[in-house]
Amino acid sequence: MNLGFLSNRLEKRKAENSFRFLSSNDKSAIDFASNDYLGFARLSSLWEPEALQKYGSTGSRLLTGNSRITEDTEAFIASFHKAEAGLIYNSGYDANTGLFSCIASKDDTIIFDEYSHSSIKDGARLSPAKHFVFRHNDLSDLEAKISRASGKVFVGVESVYSMDGDLADLKGLVAISRKYENVYLIVDEAHATGVFGDRGEGLVQAFGLENDFLARIHTFGKAIGCQGAIVLGSHLLRDYLINFSRSFIYTTALPIPDIIAVKRAYDLMDIRDRSISLLRERIDYFKNKSGQLSAFNVQPNESAIQVVLIPGNEKVKKAAGHSQSGGFDVRPVLSPTVPAGMERLRICIHAFNTEKEIDRLVERLNDAFESLR
Ligand SMILES: Cc1ncc(COP(=O)(O)O)c(C=O)c1O
Repeated sequence: MNLGFLSNRLEKRKAENSFRFLSSNDKSAIDFASNDYLGFARLSSLWEPEALQKYGSTGSRLLTGNSRITEDTEAFIASFHKAEAGLIYNSGYDANTGLFSCIASKDDTIIFDEYSHSSIKDGARLSPAKHFVFRHNDLSDLEAKISRASGKVFVGVESVYSMDGDLADLKGLVAISRKYENVYLIVDEAHATGVFGDRGEGLVQAFGLENDFLARIHTFGKAIGCQGAIVLGSHLLRDYLINFSRSFIYTTALPIPDIIAVKRAYDLMDIRDRSISLLRERIDYFKNKSGQLSAFNVQPNESAIQVVLIPGNEKVKKAAGHSQSGGFDVRPVLSPTVPAGMERLRICIHAFNTEKEIDRLVERLNDAFESLR
C-alpha cells in the first residue's frame, strides 16, 4: 500500500518544526500545564468506591444509556448555574460540535470569535448555516458583521480564551444582543468553570447575565477534574438537542461512575471549597511575581491561564525544555495551533501550586528567557 500521501504531509510538519506527538507525562514534575485548576482530578474522594465498579453505560441516552442519576445530576448542575435545564455530553468537544451544528438552519448565520476553540469552529462547519469569524474580542467588528448577516444570528464566544487566558467582554456582548431581536449568544465557559465566581460558577453568573445567553457550555475535564460537559439553557433547548444534536444522540453515554464523580465535584464547589479562593490567591501571586521581572514577556490576565509569548517554534520549545529540566511541567504551544509568531508557553496556575513553587518557576522562566536573547 502506498502511504506516501500520509508521510508527505507529516514530513512537511517536521520541516516546519510543528510535528505533533503524544506527550510522555512526568508525574514527578510540578504541574504548571494541566487544566486541573482546583486539583480535583487528584481527589480520590471523587472516585471511591465507584472506580472499583467502573462499567459501561451500554448505550446512547436515547436507548439503554440513560439513568436517573444522570438526569438528577443535570438538574442539580442546571440549578447550580441558575439555568432552567442542562444536557450532559461526553466531552466539551462533543457539546460544542453537537450544539453549533444543529442550532441554525440554512438561512441563518453563525459568527464566532476568531480565537474560538476548534470544537466551535467544527460545529459551525457542520451546520447548514453560513458562518464566519469576527476579530478577537472586537465588538465593533462583531456588530458590523451582525448588520450584514441574514436570518437568525448565533454568536459564539469563550468567556475565557483557552490559549490566551483573556476574557470576553460579556457585558458588551449582551448590550449588543439586546439591540437585535435575531441575535442569540452562546458562551463556552470551559476555562471559567471553577475559576470565576465565589463557588466557581463561571463568568456569566459572576456578572448576573445568565438570562441573556441561549446556551452556556461548562466542561468537566478542566477544573471539575473529570470528563464530559453540560449545555445549559431552557427546557425547550434541551428537548431540541435531544432530538437534533448528533454528537449527543449517536454515541454511548458516560458511565455512571463518571457522572457521580462530576456530581461530587459540584458538591465541593457548592460548599465553596477552599481551593476556589486559593486558586485566585495563586493567580494574583503569579501575576505579581512575574510583573517584577523585566526579562519576562508575560501577558497578565485574571484567569488561571497565563501566557509567555516566545515567537518561533524552535525558541519556545527550547524555553519549555529549560523549564522542564528544572522540574516544572510547562508546555509550549506551537504554530499552527496558534498563528505563526504567536508561539507561547501556556502556564496554568493551580490551587495546589505553592508560592515557593511559583517563585522558583518564575526564576527558571526568566533564566530561559535571558538565554534566548
Ligand atoms: C474552550 C474549550 N472548549 C471546549 C474544549 C473541549 O473540551 P473537552 O476537552 O471536554 O472535549 C476545550 C478543551 O480543550 C476548550 O479549551
